[in-house]
Amino acid sequence: MIIKSTEFIKSAVKPNQYPETPFPEIAFAGRSNVGKSSLINVLVNRKNLVRTSSTPGRTQLINFFIVNGLFNLVDLPGYGFAKVPLSVKKDWGPMMETYFSIRENLKGVVLILDIRRKPVDEDRKMLQWLRAYDIPQLLVVTKCDKVSKNERAKQAEVISVALGVMKEELCFFSALSKDGRDLVWQRIEQLLQAEESG
Ligand code: GTP
Ligand code: MG
Repeated sequence: MIIKSTEFIKSAVKPNQYPETPFPEIAFAGRSNVGKSSLINVLVNRKNLVRTSSTPGRTQLINFFIVNGLFNLVDLPGYGFAKVPLSVKKDWGPMMETYFSIRENLKGVVLILDIRRKPVDEDRKMLQWLRAYDIPQLLVVTKCDKVSKNERAKQAEVISVALGVMKEELCFFSALSKDGRDLVWQRIEQLLQAEESG
């Protein structure tokens, strides 16, 4: 994927705030602090297009970006962090389910997992939602720079068993080394193209 331009379009909570563009879009979901915004920044070759933070739960809105004037990337608010205010937590589920159920532009969701952690209930719930709404999923395991090759293999097993998927479905990535960037783009392009031909 050659990136010619990336622009922030807008933030939204409710459907009437979603951008009314016809472009296909790919959304990024995962626990707070897992590295969603960092992944998007690496994909589009920008240091700080999407704000990253060492304070979990910074992204609380649905943020839409347009790439090459052709498709959208969507940064979703993370889940599962204890320090996020209760009011925010309560709104998160309905906000996500509404987006997944009515957003026709949505062609796939990248579910991001931390190589060092066993998936939690919320990760499984996210995967169940995507399956229930028939949204294609791409599983990206990030922060791979933090573990050895051995540990990576071990964790791949733990993660795939916990999610009930095959190890081959996992894409390994690091925002630090940028390892895995090309593969993630290839898979995203497949999701975008699946729509065009189907
Ligand atoms: P929220 O928006 O709060 O839900 O977080 P997020 O999922 O967008 O995570 P973000 O990209 O802001 O990254 C959280 C922290 O993890 C930051 O301090 C990043 O620098 C760090 N981080 C993200 N990806 C990687 C990675 O691949 N390797 C390493 N070593 N650190 C990473
Ligand atoms: Mg973020």
